[in-house]
Amino acid sequence: MSGVLGGARGGSANPLRQLTIGQLRQRTSLKWREYPDDVLPLWVAEMDVPLAEPVARAITDAVARGDTGYTAGTAYPQALAEFAHRRWGWDGLAVERTTLVPDVMHGVVEALRLLTDVGDAVVVNCPVYPPFYDFVTHAGRRIVEAPLGDDLRIDLGALEDAFQRARAVGRPAAYLLCNPHNPTGVLHTAAELAAVAGLADQHGVRVVADEIHAPVVIGGAQFTPYLSVPGAENGLSLMSASKGWNLAGLRGGMLIAGPAAAGDLARVPFEASVSTSHLGVIAHTAAFRDGGEWLDAVLTGLDDNRRLLAALLAEHLPVVRYQPGQATYLAWLDCRALGLGDDPASVFLDRGRVALNPGTAFGTGGGGHVRLNLATAPELITEAVRRMAAAVA
Ligand SMILES: Cc1ncc(COP(=O)(O)O)c(C=O)c1O
Repeated sequence: MSGVLGGARGGSANPLRQLTIGQLRQRTSLKWREYPDDVLPLWVAEMDVPLAEPVARAITDAVARGDTGYTAGTAYPQALAEFAHRRWGWDGLAVERTTLVPDVMHGVVEALRLLTDVGDAVVVNCPVYPPFYDFVTHAGRRIVEAPLGDDLRIDLGALEDAFQRARAVGRPAAYLLCNPHNPTGVLHTAAELAAVAGLADQHGVRVVADEIHAPVVIGGAQFTPYLSVPGAENGLSLMSASKGWNLAGLRGGMLIAGPAAAGDLARVPFEASVSTSHLGVIAHTAAFRDGGEWLDAVLTGLDDNRRLLAALLAEHLPVVRYQPGQATYLAWLDCRALGLGDDPASVFLDRGRVALNPGTAFGTGGGGHVRLNLATAPELITEAVRRMAAAVA
């Protein structure tokens, strides 16, 4: 069956090298459909991989059974709790303090609704994943930006300043933490997260951690779940197999409460927790339960790709600055020295026929940057950098 679906057998073959560009161009999802065929798309966070065999098997078995009704049970949080134990040595994910959410961003909105009211502030570390702005404002909350430092890490001074501004009128406020951080790929340390928790507590700000990229940690680095650090007991976290196993089309997410946030979680409305796709839950459960070997093969491929990108940039675009992250499959490129203004992505697209995410969408500090998606074949990364260099030659 894995042959039919193109699933990876075992964990050794690099899933990022298994599809031809012809096969990828047959895909109907956003990454491969937004631009014409002469554009090489290294933008939205989809991976150019076949589906992991355990996931493919789980959903094809469900389809064969006609098992496409409403979702039930606790298999997903159980699989996630066991994954958290195996991968991160974390035993704090209590199944009874979880609730299914339709996907991570809808889970973020539900979490923010538990902690804040319309008009209240939500702090984010810009530059950051653009839908943080869209979903937060659509939910009627207002964004307060706490810019990352020049080293791309959380700047505690800027965060404290933002917390003060967020709380200035005495209203509740939340902090939407991105752990690991999209677009920089920065993996926050346990010490940084503990400092964040302390600061949030001091200012009466509640923390919602978007940890969707947590499985995608590269080169032996260690992910720290926000809820595992001292002081984070009243935090909320969102997790999902969506990024690690490329399951955005099989939506699903998990809202997880720290021990002191169990009462908040109990207020999640019925309608928010019953809208998760059953096939999504089946896929995510299989990924966390049986997809570790496949994930490891992807992570090895991503480690090679980030090294390849650094070498290619050094050779062909040496003024572009790239600090390889320890997490996510995203590369944040500082192109300001190219002198292309705020939106170098439009130049790379128009003249180079390569699609990257424009940095301006990521909020303050994103101008002059682009985000490149490393979850593809090394040959396509090589071709993308060749096109980028040609565009500015
Ligand atoms: C930080 C972050 N949060 C959320 C999402 C989207 O998650 P979902 O599709 O489950 O809403 C992404 C997708 O790339 C992301 O990078």
